[in-house]
Amino acid sequence: MLKLNRSFASAFVAEDELVSYMDERADVLARCQAGEDRYADSLGWLSVDEWASDAILDRTCALAEQIRSMADTFVVIGVGGSNNGSRSVQAALAPEGARLVWAGNTLSAWELNRVFDELEGHDVVIDCIAKNFETLEPGSSFRLLRQYLVERYGRDEAARRIVCTGTIGSPLEDLCRAEGYTFVPFATNVGGRYTALTEVHLLPMAVAGVDIRALVAGARTMERLLRTAPAGENSAFAYASARNMLWDRGYRVELLSFFEPRFRWFSKWWEQLFAESEGKDGRGIFPAAAECSEELHSLGQFVQDGTHILFETFLDVLEPGAGDSLVLGGTDVADAFGYLDGKDFWDINKASFTATREAHAGMLPCFTLELDRLDEEHMGMLFYWFAFACYASGELLGVNPFDQPGVEAYKRLMFDALGK
Ligand code: PA5
Repeated sequence: MLKLNRSFASAFVAEDELVSYMDERADVLARCQAGEDRYADSLGWLSVDEWASDAILDRTCALAEQIRSMADTFVVIGVGGSNNGSRSVQAALAPEGARLVWAGNTLSAWELNRVFDELEGHDVVIDCIAKNFETLEPGSSFRLLRQYLVERYGRDEAARRIVCTGTIGSPLEDLCRAEGYTFVPFATNVGGRYTALTEVHLLPMAVAGVDIRALVAGARTMERLLRTAPAGENSAFAYASARNMLWDRGYRVELLSFFEPRFRWFSKWWEQLFAESEGKDGRGIFPAAAECSEELHSLGQFVQDGTHILFETFLDVLEPGAGDSLVLGGTDVADAFGYLDGKDFWDINKASFTATREAHAGMLPCFTLELDRLDEEHMGMLFYWFAFACYASGELLGVNPFDQPGVEAYKRLMFDALGK
């Protein structure tokens, strides 16, 4: 299960104030739990079963199986909301199915050349994931990789090895129909960054060997909780409320800190979710991430001692899983680290975390989102918990959490420069 531990923030956000804030805004929570008509075209994720029903999971697992029978390497071509969800699960859980290679998230020739190096000697299937099929990174990478497959396998075999996840009626669907590629429908009423629990991400996860049924089961559990729990008992609403109280008090940055580097891609998913959902109309908390303990030796100085603009949310995994134990043996060499003899890195890492939280909590508000374990079920819970919290937080802030008008400005200038 997930639990929001607020005890290290109470010096800055008093519990009674938080409870009154939530009670006064119980109508906002009720609207989010029901889903508002004005956002009907963006709320397909709110009911997990709408895009991750048992029938859809069966279909996804069958396609994943078919892909794995043809390939040991699956190239996921997508950017932002079309990439971060599956990538964060792959990085967090290191499943043992097909290898995933990531493309369509860069315009760097060096990176793209490196992708081709990674395909050498492997059987390959590609998946172009693009809601609009206008985005430059996936569109340009898809063309490169399509041509690569045709050269390598011939046109007919290449067609068997190309999957596209796109919007029904889009030019990407037309291309699939014309060339005989497999077409997977992009969830129509879900914006990119909210698609973690749809086929957009479930297919790459399943190909990678993730137990997507367990992941979706975790999300369903979280949906049941968050859509029924009243304001005082709703942890996602408490988080949304606390961050808005802090916004009102001048805090402008939230740092998502974690002591498991396996959360690196999850933190990118989280950054995108909150940055695009809340950063608009001159408002919003800037989401940033700190991969500890490494960042304690860089960002840590600012966090502890710098301008008082930030608060921190820690991700903490409570129970060790497979691979989470490594005991440091003793040595007869005087290396000045004798105090670590026989200690497990799991406990050393925990000591670093608890000490950091204690030190930081003296200077800034610190929340901890505690996960019992790091597994599929908890990844599903995390996705739903943060998506729901982000919706509620945007509502409290007074912005539309589902559009991203700001990213259009640079695109216009870039397309002009490229002669589109
Ligand atoms: O949340 C969003 O909608 C965006 O951030 C998209 O995920 C991102 O821009 C990729 O879009 P597309 O899938 O259309 O290429």
